[in-house]
This record gives sequence, C-alpha cells and structure tokens, in this order.
Amino acid sequence: MSTVIVSQEELLRHNSVLSSLKNRIAASSLERGHALTYRVKTYGCQLNESDSEKIEGILRSIGLIEASEEAIPDFLILNTCTIRENADVRLFGNLGAYKSQKKQNRDMFIAVCGCMMKQPENIERIKKSFPFVDACFGPSDIHLLPDILDRKLSQKKRVFSVSDEDYLVDDTDIPVEHKRKFRALVPIMYGCNNFCTYCVVPYTRGRERSRSSEKILAQLRELASQGYKEVMLLGQNVNSYGHDREGEISFAELLKEAASIPGFSRIRFMTSHPKDISDEVIYTMQKYPNIERHLHLPMQSGSSEILSRMNRHYDREQYLKTALLFRKCLPDATLTTDIIVGFPGETEEDFQATLDVVAECRFDSAFTFQYSRRPGTKAASYPDQIPQDVVTERFGRLLALQNDLTFASNESVVGKTEEILIEGRSATAPDVLTGRTNSNRLVNFRIPSGTKFQGNLIDTTAEDFDADKFEGLLAMVHITRAKPYSVEGELVSFIDE
Ligand code: 5AD
Ligand code: SF4
Repeated sequence: MSTVIVSQEELLRHNSVLSSLKNRIAASSLERGHALTYRVKTYGCQLNESDSEKIEGILRSIGLIEASEEAIPDFLILNTCTIRENADVRLFGNLGAYKSQKKQNRDMFIAVCGCMMKQPENIERIKKSFPFVDACFGPSDIHLLPDILDRKLSQKKRVFSVSDEDYLVDDTDIPVEHKRKFRALVPIMYGCNNFCTYCVVPYTRGRERSRSSEKILAQLRELASQGYKEVMLLGQNVNSYGHDREGEISFAELLKEAASIPGFSRIRFMTSHPKDISDEVIYTMQKYPNIERHLHLPMQSGSSEILSRMNRHYDREQYLKTALLFRKCLPDATLTTDIIVGFPGETEEDFQATLDVVAECRFDSAFTFQYSRRPGTKAASYPDQIPQDVVTERFGRLLALQNDLTFASNESVVGKTEEILIEGRSATAPDVLTGRTNSNRLVNFRIPSGTKFQGNLIDTTAEDFDADKFEGLLAMVHITRAKPYSVEGELVSFIDE
C-alpha cells in the first residue's frame, strides 16, 4: 500500500465522466417516465457516514434523487463495516433481501463498498454467491465511483474495483451531500498507522494521510458562511494530524484556527488516541467555548499488561493522568470512552483493573465491546483466547457499573438550564424535540403551551405540527429528569429564531 495523491487532471477526467453519466441518467429517466432514485445504506462509524455523504454527493450530481423509505431504489449502495464480526454477518444476511428487490426492479444497480471490501474473502464470496451485486469498491476508491458506474452501465459487466493504493483526494474536490442541515462532517485525515493488535482498520483504511490545513480551513470558512452550526472534525487518530505532512500545523493548532472562525456554535472531533493527545488540546478546549465540552478518549482496557499486548503505547497511569487533567480543566464537560472486554489473555485481575479505572474516571458514557477475533490481525493468532461464557459474564459486570455511572452523570444536570442544538423530532413522540447539549448529552424536551416562534404561538397538538422545522436551531432547555441514556427537559426559549 502506498499513498497516491490524485492529480487535478485525473479529477477533471472524473468530472467529464460525471457529465456524460448525467446525460445518460436523464435519458433513462425520460424513457422510464420517472426520476431515477438512489439509497445509500451506511453501517459502522462516522468516517463511513462521511464517505456516504460523498457517495450521495456523486449520485446527486448525476441527477439521481433519494428514494423514499418504502420504495425500491434504482441505485443501491451498501457502505459496509468490518470492525467486529457481527457487522459482516449483518451484510450477508441483508443481501438476500436485496436479491428479491432486484427481481422486482431488474434494472436496479447494487454496489457494495466500505471496509469489508478490503478483505479478499468477502469479494470472493460476493463474486460466487451474490451474482446480483453489480460492483464492489474499497473505502479509498470513492472518487472512482463515476468510472465504476460508467463501466457497469456501458459494458454491462460486474465491476470489482478495490485498489491497493491509499488515495488522497481532497474533500473539496468531490461533491458532498451533508445529511443534516446543521452538521457538517469534515474528515481531516484518513487511515491509521497504529496497528492496535485487535483492529482491522489499518488494513482496511490504509496509512495515515492528512489533508492540508489550508484546504480544511477554507472548507470550514465556506461551511460557516453556509450556516452550518456544528462541524465534526474526523479521523481515526486526530491527534496525529499533520505528522505525515512536512511543516504542517498540529491538531491543537488546527482546532484553535477552526474555533476562531466566526459562525460555528460547536466544533466536535473524533477520535482521540490517548498516546497522542497533547495537553495543549485540553487547554485549547478550555479556552474556546465553541469547542464541544466533550472528549471521547478510548481506553480499551485498564490493565497496563493488556494495553501493552494491544499495542496501545500507553499504560494505565498515563491514561489516568490525561483523563484527570481533562476533568480538572473542564469540570462540567463529559468524558466518554471505548472498552473491549475479553481481549486474549485478559485475567480476572486485568478485568478488575478495567473496572477500577472506569470507577475512577467516572465516564459519562462508554461504548463497551466484547472482543471480536478479526482475521489478519495479530491478536487473532494469540493462543489464550477467552471463552465466551467468561466474556459474557465480565461484560455484564462492566455494563452494570457503567450504566450506574451514566445515570448518575445524567442526574447531575437535572435542574440546570442548558443550551441545546435541536436535531429535530424525537423518536419517542411527535410533539417532543430532540437535541444535544454542548457536552453531547442527548436531551428530549417538550415545548410548553404558550411558547411563540417567530411571533406565532406553537401548537404541538396541531395536526400539521412539524417538529423537524426546528432542526438546527439553538434553544435553552431546562433539564427536568434523568433517564438511563438521555435526559428530559422543557424548552425555556429559542436563541436564534
Ligand atoms: N473487537 C472488539 N472491539 C473492537 N474495536 C475495534 N476492534 C475491535 C475488535 N476486534 C472497538 C474499539 C474501538 C472501537 C471503534 O471499536 O474499542 O475503539
Ligand atoms: Fe484501530 Fe487502533 Fe487505529 Fe483506532 S488507533 S483505528 S483502534 S488501529
């Protein structure tokens, strides 16, 4: 694998392929008597979500429109994840259903992309057992989608295009369709160099390659001027941003520059690696209130022995030092983490060490995972794999502890009034809105009767009440009740009607 910077000439060529595809799609739409539709289904992490925004951008730029929820789309793209085994199982389980959809729409185009495609056995399986899949491409090949569509549509042959190269195309050179009107996902770097021994990502997403800070900041200024309130800076390990570019600024500096751009209420970033996060990043968060009051700092294990066998390059003490510095500098902020239970060789003592650190850090929430043996990773060949019943039992104990901590964290904000960025209607009830605090806490809240919006009374009981019209607005909300994974509240006032 090697990094290949895609040239401007190559990008111009893609643009001309896009224009010819656009003509072809327009002709097909006329022939079939309706606009052709697409659906992109995304599994896995935020980087996949960001990749899907580019895939959608490309599909829209050739004239496709998003399929409604019930409809069978003309173009279906499945963006896969392979971080844990159940992700693989899910894809192959779902593919069967798409086969019957394709029977109903014989012209349907089905492509599978994402991290699973970097594992040759998955490609082989699709080639042999899923002949109705028209194309496969890898996570670094999204800019090649116009070519892939063109080849499939003109030659009618299946296209398998998973490159070994780690392409670097600047995001601003690809059309992007941001899924939420208030939030822009902005990758600042791709790939990972860390080779944690349990993880497939360095094999699927290749080596670290950072975008130029000049281009990132120009993109951020543009997004701010378009009215985006929230921006999420993405990378597998954002703290090593720029290390692969001669003379590039550090992540802390990038964060400062981003926070100085007028317009964003919230700047978020994911994911931080405890070995690379500098104190400067924490001081920067402290200094700029428009940087989210939340740090996601994956710990993975509280045992130094296990951390060393995971190849994490920090030990329990170093992790605690960073976590406690963060708690001291930003006492109202939230700290969240990822933890793996049942890594090969994990003893009861090691697991106890994890419980101890969890109790000491009092994480506000945590993603907890059972270790999944991923083919090709170093830990997959470790001899001392842990029996499933032991993993399940430990996992239950960790979950019980973390659930208590999460609930206590939610209880600690009851009675406060916080600024919420509204995300739309809540999943629970049509007259309840949902949003997040600046510390990334999920808040479901009601609008009390008598509340006015743009001079008019809001009637949440009215038949045409549409909670989604508040998406992207900031509001002050009084927190009234803690729930296990969220809090409830009542609207006090809108900030920016
Ligand atoms: N098994 C279990 N969890 C894993 N993760 C990554 N690889 C594995 C694996 N093989 C978890 C880590 C990481 C998160 C994104 O997924 O905790 O931080
Ligand atoms: Fe995987 Fe480790 Fe890289 Fe995160 S830092 S993507 S866990 S290898």
